[in-house]
Amino acid sequence: MKAAVFDSGIGGLTVVKSLIEHKLFEEIIYFGDTARVPYGIKDKNTIIRYSLEALEFFKNFDVDILITACNSVSAHAIPELRQNAPFPVVGVIEPGVLALEKKIKDKEKNILIIGTNATISSQKYQKILKEKGFKNFISKPTPLFVPIVEEGLFEGEVLEAAMKHYFQDIKKIDAIILGCTHFPLISKNIKKYFNNEAILIHSGEAIVEHLEDGFGLKKRFPNTNLKLFASENPEKLKQIANLWLKPTIV
Ligand code: DGL
Repeated sequence: MKAAVFDSGIGGLTVVKSLIEHKLFEEIIYFGDTARVPYGIKDKNTIIRYSLEALEFFKNFDVDILITACNSVSAHAIPELRQNAPFPVVGVIEPGVLALEKKIKDKEKNILIIGTNATISSQKYQKILKEKGFKNFISKPTPLFVPIVEEGLFEGEVLEAAMKHYFQDIKKIDAIILGCTHFPLISKNIKKYFNNEAILIHSGEAIVEHLEDGFGLKKRFPNTNLKLFASENPEKLKQIANLWLKPTIV
């Protein structure tokens, strides 16, 4: 099994980490559009155009499936990607809600969705949560977390100030959907901010569950061959991969 993983930049490596840990693929072709990141501040048409260009790149490889690790792409470009791809395309939004449904049975619980402006304004998470019967959810764009993670500030006063800025009015929360590739890297501190009482949903873990349940994929490949491509500065992507994927990387 060979997967293509698409992201706006480096963040999708958090999804790659889950895919490698669960040994679902023999090979992963990763493309990060590092020359044009962030997608989270761009409009729908631009995100669709960039995504279709990435699809053309992936057509050069004999992949079995395309996973859009990027929540902003998953929120806006899945129908267009599916129309034009010769292989199945899966995004991270529906799997995220399915993962939440498995963990939270009580539909009255308080859910917080965080992500980029593009993801939150698309209303995709909110629409699916409503369809599934969840009654109490709020959403909040938290775009500052993206550069904070890219600076490697996974803890400390900058992150604390940003969390306070975004979360100070939010009272009781039972679960948080981390609707952005970057957020798993600060998930420990987000959880701590909410007194370690909230359940966190991570796109990487959610997509693994979806691939196992929906596509019947199993732990089969002890080693995953990871090929990394970027539209700008591929060396930086490789350095970050060495840092973030350790000890996963082979
Ligand atoms: N990968 C993006 C996402 O998950 C975050 C970075 C960006 O804005 O491009 O939405």
